[in-house]
Amino acid sequence: MNILFIGDIFGEVGRNLVKKYLPLLKDKYDIDFVIGNGENATHGKGISKEHYYELLDYGIDCITLGNHTFDQHKITNWIDEESCIVRPANLSRRAPGLGSVTFNVNGSKIQVTNMLGRVFYGGIVNHPVEVMEDIVAQSDSDIHIVDLHCDATAEKICFGYEFDGQVSAVLGTHTHVQTADERILDKGCAYITDVGMCGPFNQCIGMDKENVVLKMKDGLPHKFEPGKEPGILNAVVMKFDLNHNCIGIERINLSPLNNYQM
Ligand SMILES: [Fe+2]
Repeated sequence: MNILFIGDIFGEVGRNLVKKYLPLLKDKYDIDFVIGNGENATHGKGISKEHYYELLDYGIDCITLGNHTFDQHKITNWIDEESCIVRPANLSRRAPGLGSVTFNVNGSKIQVTNMLGRVFYGGIVNHPVEVMEDIVAQSDSDIHIVDLHCDATAEKICFGYEFDGQVSAVLGTHTHVQTADERILDKGCAYITDVGMCGPFNQCIGMDKENVVLKMKDGLPHKFEPGKEPGILNAVVMKFDLNHNCIGIERINLSPLNNYQM
């Protein structure tokens, strides 16, 4: 079983990268199941129903979210009707959508859980470790992938150690910057602090850099627009043996700097 996880898909540039490269990645790595973080899929803020279907059409099987889950407000009207989208599990119990969803893939149960970290979001989220403990206690899946959407590297690393041996993978998202620390932890959990981004390269985490830098300098409000091409596609591939043990995690970085070499 080979599972591909694509980092935060950002705007039109990110969606076009998925359209162009996902078929090639599926072919090269013999991928059985594709997860993509889609919380920036619509102009960098949230995901519309149109873009949700667009990404499914390109071959993604499960969309995860994050702090921008409800930025496209209409998502509250449709998220409960869809089965391939997972929002953070540690939101209010009144929030629509599901925080953990299990997919049947070639006879194996693949569970996908989305979780927000506490750093910068402590006031709006329930404790990720406590929520995760409850999810693990009720889990009967064969493979359990956790998208930990989170700012702080230390929080992600600690979460990975805590759930090593209880879940199959803890994959960080949100910073849009890929880290080079992919590995399998002592008890078999695949781990990376941040998968990175699928979106505009040479910009400020996806947004056009001019106004982001201006805001950094003067602290005043400036309109942020999604950056243009070229793009960068960051992802990881995880390989599982017949006993559903993870036997490898490989980082993918298709960028103008390496001429999109796979
Ligand atoms: Fe985010």
